[in-house]
Amino acid sequence: VLANPLRPAILAAARSSRVKRAVTGAPVTRKLVDRFVAGESRESVLAAVREILDSGRSVSIDFLGEDTRDAEGAQATVDEYLALVADLGALPEAADGTSGVRRLEVSMKLSALGQALAGDGRRIATDNARTICAAAEAAGVWVTVDAEDHTTTDSTLAIVHELRDDYPWLGAVVQSYLRRTEDDCRALAGPGSRVRLCKGAYREPESVAFQDRAAVDASYLRCLGILMEGAGYPMVASHDPAVIDAVAPLVGRTGRAADAYEHQMLFGIRDVEQRRLANEDKQVRVYVPYGSQWYAYFMRRLAERPSNLRFFLRSVVTR
Ligand code: FDA
Repeated sequence: VLANPLRPAILAAARSSRVKRAVTGAPVTRKLVDRFVAGESRESVLAAVREILDSGRSVSIDFLGEDTRDAEGAQATVDEYLALVADLGALPEAADGTSGVRRLEVSMKLSALGQALAGDGRRIATDNARTICAAAEAAGVWVTVDAEDHTTTDSTLAIVHELRDDYPWLGAVVQSYLRRTEDDCRALAGPGSRVRLCKGAYREPESVAFQDRAAVDASYLRCLGILMEGAGYPMVASHDPAVIDAVAPLVGRTGRAADAYEHQMLFGIRDVEQRRLANEDKQVRVYVPYGSQWYAYFMRRLAERPSNLRFFLRSVVTR
């Protein structure tokens, strides 16, 4: 299967402030953004979360933002996560502190917490992440640290490793397009280790990442096998029917209990499939992003699927 030929250009545009102005200024953008993002405010995301929880699915909420350039921006992100976690802790679904699957989770990007700040960015991001984990622990909410571009992988996995001493439930994310990820899966497949496996959404050079779709998919299935055979808690983040079909046989073969792994999909993508799995008593978690900094996230969703892009361009052109 050929990859979307426009993917590199769209992912480059995701980092361009000129294209950002044009895209965010286009009136039609809003409608398409609403498909992937649950509003800009905490109130709007909490309304979407209520509906998802009532349908039997779990959530992981992402306050959109990345590549923070100053400590104040990082602090503002922490403050929003603390307010979000407090709101989640007040829901009846908040866990009571006993073990077991927590239905409420937040996902965060270390680059939004200051990881790229000059000097002691790594320390700042670690401290900020720790603050959020402490609040989440008290509220009965889980946390997973998103994977960003490959230049951050070592630092991000090291920070997760460090924080797991105090918060062993902290989730890591790995991307099957990276050549290193099979090894990372082996290292991360220990007891209790929550690992979200995704294909990867950034533009990466051939030296570190498979470029060919079939190679990324094959890597995904190898990594999934490692995680399923391990002692951790695999989080199968994919909408791909081939991936979803591969899960049940692996679960059967490895004797994994129904509450010892989960499916994950993005808000607004394959909603019917999400509900179908949940109705089969599979655990399904929906990744729900919100906030005003939706541009880069939105562009990554456009890059994943040519039809999204065609739909977007057609609406711009035919207005
Ligand atoms: P693939 O791209 O092959 O798509 C399979 C099918 O899914 C498509 O045929 C289509 O039906 C549907 N589909 C997929 N994308 C779609 C879209 N944008 N619009 C409409 N339909 C679509 N990445 C990352 O780098 N770091 C991270 O931390 C995360 N976190 C994360 C969490 C969760 C819960 C999910 C589901 C995904 C991520 N990702 C991510 C994104 C991930 O890396 C990947 O880019 C997308 O999930 C698309 O890959 P699929 O596995 O779905 O397969």
